Amino acid sequence: MVPSKREQFGSSLTFIMAMAGSAIGLGNIWRFPYMVGEHGGGAFIIAYIVCSAFIALPCFLCEAVIGKRARSGVYGSFEKLAPGSKWKWAGGISILACFVIMSYYSVVGGWSLDFLVRSLSGGLAPGRPDEAVGIFSKMASSPLESITGFLLFLMATALIVLGGIKKGIEKFTKITIPILFVLMIALVVYSLSLPGSGGGVKYIIEPDFSKLDASGWACALGQAFFSMSLGVGAVLIYSSFMKKDERILRAGVWTSVSDTFFAIISALAIMPAVFASGLEPGVGPALVYETLPYIFASMGVETPVLSAVVTTAFFLAILMAALTSSISMLDVCVEHAVEQYKCKRWMAMLLFVVPGIALGVPCALSFGSLKGATLFGLTIFDICDFLCSNILMTLGALVFALFVGWRMKKADVQEELNGPLFKVFYFMIRWVVPPAILIIFISNLL
Ligand code: TRP
Repeated sequence: MVPSKREQFGSSLTFIMAMAGSAIGLGNIWRFPYMVGEHGGGAFIIAYIVCSAFIALPCFLCEAVIGKRARSGVYGSFEKLAPGSKWKWAGGISILACFVIMSYYSVVGGWSLDFLVRSLSGGLAPGRPDEAVGIFSKMASSPLESITGFLLFLMATALIVLGGIKKGIEKFTKITIPILFVLMIALVVYSLSLPGSGGGVKYIIEPDFSKLDASGWACALGQAFFSMSLGVGAVLIYSSFMKKDERILRAGVWTSVSDTFFAIISALAIMPAVFASGLEPGVGPALVYETLPYIFASMGVETPVLSAVVTTAFFLAILMAALTSSISMLDVCVEHAVEQYKCKRWMAMLLFVVPGIALGVPCALSFGSLKGATLFGLTIFDICDFLCSNILMTLGALVFALFVGWRMKKADVQEELNGPLFKVFYFMIRWVVPPAILIIFISNLL
């Protein structure tokens, strides 16, 4: 066999940081906190932890097993492990899904960049909360601003991915992940120190099992999938660069624990501040871009410097979290092109970034001039999100689980994932995970 020249992550720690970086993103910061509120606080957190541990973690391990064994891109992995079969088309769909997610995710990433620049320049109206609320809708509906933010964010993503695994992705996540944790913990401490913040903690922690119905469980599972970046090959691609002696189970557990921990601390940073200001917590995406700027601006009446520091820290954290996720999406696409079309890395990147711009621009305009361009009431942005989060990611995860559970040889799977829990894992991915995924898939469509 020709010795492989494939790059490798430098250590277990940097590999786990890159994985955690992919997992920790906008899903943790804005989606998780308001879902907790809608579905019974602590009860939802319990459901989320159960879904993460028993369904999402086994799915993560399946993707990691495939990546580590095949050491190829998503499409190439299926081709290697099941030559001549149709499984590789599922790999092709994963790449397409990553491409679409990257395009619309970069629009939201662009907003955080815009807000970061504004907070640095005092443009988030410190001391004038009423003005702060309107900034988001003005920014998102201005073609020039939203497209500029989107393009800059995508360019930053492309530059990091261009550096490859070691010089690009590993180096970037090694710096950002620790900063992200420190920033978020500082924000929690600050948020909890505000008078009246206790209501927010109660909102998150107090379990109300009467609100946790079947749809709450389906949401918990869907959120666990989105948050762990499952079903589109992001886990597979990073795993294909892990060291041969890396322990998959340990990496999976660490990624899952840090992702859940980060989701909970994000909720603890946001909700107490919302309660301290007496605002409505269940407003969805607007929470991060409207409610919080209002809160930060109100603080500015008495303490303008503190207000500027907290705002900057918050939007910097969101931007970093979003970038460490978007690089994994683009990397899935780039590795595929490098491997299959034998092209240079920059060429592979352009092959996806240029069409990504063509798709991302209408997504960015979905909040302004293309607001009216809808299908079944969904804008272009919403269609991309629905297609990926509710259909492609879920089906992708099902394909990975079926492949490992039913197509790969048991002995091969065991070789990659040997350990005391192997039997439990193998039983779960054959008999529990596929029906569970089908249940969320159907309930998400209803
Ligand atoms: N996990 C990321 C977050 O929480 C988002 C995400 C969804 C993702 N699907 C992905 C990241 C695929 C990388 C690849 O925000």
